[in-house]
Amino acid sequence: MLPNRLRLIASMVKHGSVVADIGTDHAYLPVYLVKENICPRALACDIRPLPLEKGRQNISLNHLEDKIETRLSDGLNAISKGEADTFTIAGMGADVLIHILSSCDYIKSDRYTLIIQPMSRYYELITWLYQNGFVIENQKCTHEGNRRYTVIKARYTGQKNDFSEADTYIGAMDLEDSECREFLQGEIKKAERRAIGNPELKPTIEELKENLK
Ligand SMILES: C[S@@+](CC[C@H](N)C(=O)[O-])C[C@H]1O[C@@H](n2cnc3c(N)ncnc32)[C@H](O)[C@@H]1O
Repeated sequence: MLPNRLRLIASMVKHGSVVADIGTDHAYLPVYLVKENICPRALACDIRPLPLEKGRQNISLNHLEDKIETRLSDGLNAISKGEADTFTIAGMGADVLIHILSSCDYIKSDRYTLIIQPMSRYYELITWLYQNGFVIENQKCTHEGNRRYTVIKARYTGQKNDFSEADTYIGAMDLEDSECREFLQGEIKKAERRAIGNPELKPTIEELKENLK
């Protein structure tokens, strides 16, 4: 069974896309995408040989060696332009995600879809996306036990609009959706704890609470 977090990412992948899964580890996501006929083929990439080997074993267990290629790659460095049209990048903190995205120039094109699942400080990732000309086309949330996750689908347009700090917490979440509401409520609680040593966060917190009313 695929965890909810990876299942949500899979549900946001357009049918027929060629996905490169960056930081694939066990390759659960590309295996699911190909097995479910969402993707005709995929690339499973990781910076470290051992996780990549785990991925290779899972791919071979599912007899998908002809459809899923494994590749040792720091971010998108070993993937050429056009080899994939969609990049899934999941299970990493905002700093690693921003490092990966800022190390690749060619993703600044509207032909690529990014589907990103940050494990921490998602609002910093959204800040980076907005500052660098990306729009968020869709953003969804899910949970697994007590842990809540958000998944961000973004694309480069080159447009840079003004945004507030609250905008980076809300992103493109549908605040009528219960998963998104609960995700944001959790983030507001975390922000309230940070505001103890950082009172300038307080107006943003108030704005977020207003949005949830
Ligand atoms: C916690 S696992 C996440 C696995 C899977 N994506 C998921 O969400 O379940 C993070 C993986 O990212 C890989 N990773 C970390 N930095 C990376 C980078 N710069 N480029 C590619 N992979 C990276 C790690 O080796 C590790 O296998």
